[in-house]
Amino acid sequence: MELLKLTVKPWSSCLLLGLLFIFAFLASLSHAEIHYHEFVIEARPVKRLCRTHSTVTVNGQFPGPTLQVRNGDTLVIRAINRARYNVTLHWHGVHQTRNPWADGPEYVTQCPIQPGRSYTYRFTIEDQEGTLWWHAHSRWLRATVYGALIVYPRMGSPYPFPMPKREIPILIGEWWDRDPMDVLRQALFTGGAPNISDALTINGQPGDLYRCSSKETVRFPVEAGETILLRIINSAMNQEHFFGVANHRLTVVGVDTSYTKPFPTSVIMIAPGQTTNVLLTADQPPARYYMAAHAYNTANAAFDNTTTTAILEYKSAPFNGKKGKSRSSAPIFPILPGFNDTATATAFTARIKSLHQVQVPTVIDENLFFTVGLGLINCSNPNSPRCQGPNGTRFAASINNISFVFPRRNSLMQAYIQGQPGIFTTDFPPVPPIIFDYTGNVSRGLWQPRKRTKLYKLKFGSRVQVVFQDTSIVSVEDHPMHLHGHEFYVVGSGFGNFNPSTDTAKFNLIDPPRRNTIGTPPGGWVAVRFVAENPGIWLLHCHIDSHLTWGLAMAFLVENGVGKLQTVQPPPLDLPRC
Ligand code: C2O
Repeated sequence: MELLKLTVKPWSSCLLLGLLFIFAFLASLSHAEIHYHEFVIEARPVKRLCRTHSTVTVNGQFPGPTLQVRNGDTLVIRAINRARYNVTLHWHGVHQTRNPWADGPEYVTQCPIQPGRSYTYRFTIEDQEGTLWWHAHSRWLRATVYGALIVYPRMGSPYPFPMPKREIPILIGEWWDRDPMDVLRQALFTGGAPNISDALTINGQPGDLYRCSSKETVRFPVEAGETILLRIINSAMNQEHFFGVANHRLTVVGVDTSYTKPFPTSVIMIAPGQTTNVLLTADQPPARYYMAAHAYNTANAAFDNTTTTAILEYKSAPFNGKKGKSRSSAPIFPILPGFNDTATATAFTARIKSLHQVQVPTVIDENLFFTVGLGLINCSNPNSPRCQGPNGTRFAASINNISFVFPRRNSLMQAYIQGQPGIFTTDFPPVPPIIFDYTGNVSRGLWQPRKRTKLYKLKFGSRVQVVFQDTSIVSVEDHPMHLHGHEFYVVGSGFGNFNPSTDTAKFNLIDPPRRNTIGTPPGGWVAVRFVAENPGIWLLHCHIDSHLTWGLAMAFLVENGVGKLQTVQPPPLDLPRC
């Protein structure tokens, strides 16, 4: 008000207005917020499938809290461990530039937070927007310790599609009718495959098709005609999934943290670790429609073949919310592909393209060829209760025949920064030790990997290509490969063995999708490219947790570059010790 009383000449009032405008503009640019949260990790009674379990949760919630931030914001999350297990938290897909200390994988970037202790994760979201999520990264705790991390665009910057009326996170999970840590313990003891889950879940609920679950089935009310954005996250432990909504077309508009060229589909395939954003318009007759997910299974192995459901409920639907549901109000069911429908899964994944042309490295400094797959460790006594894998063996999994062993005495990052020897070596092989017909009939002599803690060194700024080649050892399978600290462009994919000359020629270097997790087709390969611009130690692993348990992992050590902006930050003072 004071301003108005000033007697100013016209030119200076113009100047004033101009300055005000510039300040407002700058303020909107720097409108980054700091979000403080306390995550209390603690066992709470959770009832599913007729039984109550003491379940490890965050703040008593299952799934855990949804974090909603904007690109550019900072998160400060104090993790307080009141559970009886060691725990760490991982912010899946966040770059964590120069800040591996906030990344979370246990024994990689930090020692676990012991019961009774706490640790504060501090990180900033830099130039990323989309759907991410967070989860425990210690043994099998992520079965119940997970939640959505939604990154909206900066204030004032719109989506590249019409603004949806509402947004719904959809977290697909797996539920065991026992403590998942016991499932893991048993598998580690016997060397066999872990028990499959007893239910799949949407936002923590199995839905109508399971015992004692109908009442709690998740319902999403919608207004006829409105468009909603579904942020679908596969937070399941061990399975890829097909997902669809009865009678509704889905338009894919984003994956992980990149926008994609929109395309319509009736079903999506999503692997553990991946996220997919789809638009859905409520353009069908007012009624109730199931959304459903079930497994896409590519291995020759047991899997959870049940179906989880939630209900999309038009507010104007007859009988909606009224007592005395009549038969006519039973929701309509979507058609999902068969469990082993690789043709549909492959066709879907192939349609995902970046919205705009992107800058893919064309000159490659590090050309890596990684065989990924299962293996078996022979036992001296095949009848031992500890050798319950196929033919008296123990299951293993490997990359280039190295089955990754997590250190115990220290984390890799702490050992690296302290110069502590004997924790890891940096001689991870860039190619498999021998060349063979990876997807053919592999001789038994090649089924046994070696257990090691090997890292692969990358110079700061190196342009990297990795071809992940699935093997047919034990079984071919879709392995969703996830890289920490970076995102990569998925430049090509195919079945059979990768052929460097003919396949490279067909790479998409124009508009490939940028992702943090991509699956090898079963019995095939997938090629990715990225620039190693983030110093630190970054885990690369299969996001199927049973495979991670068996060693399907390795880590990159990205060296510091020149100057502060290319050097790992000093570790925070409260970083846990082993
Ligand atoms: Cu989402 Cu290493 O994980």
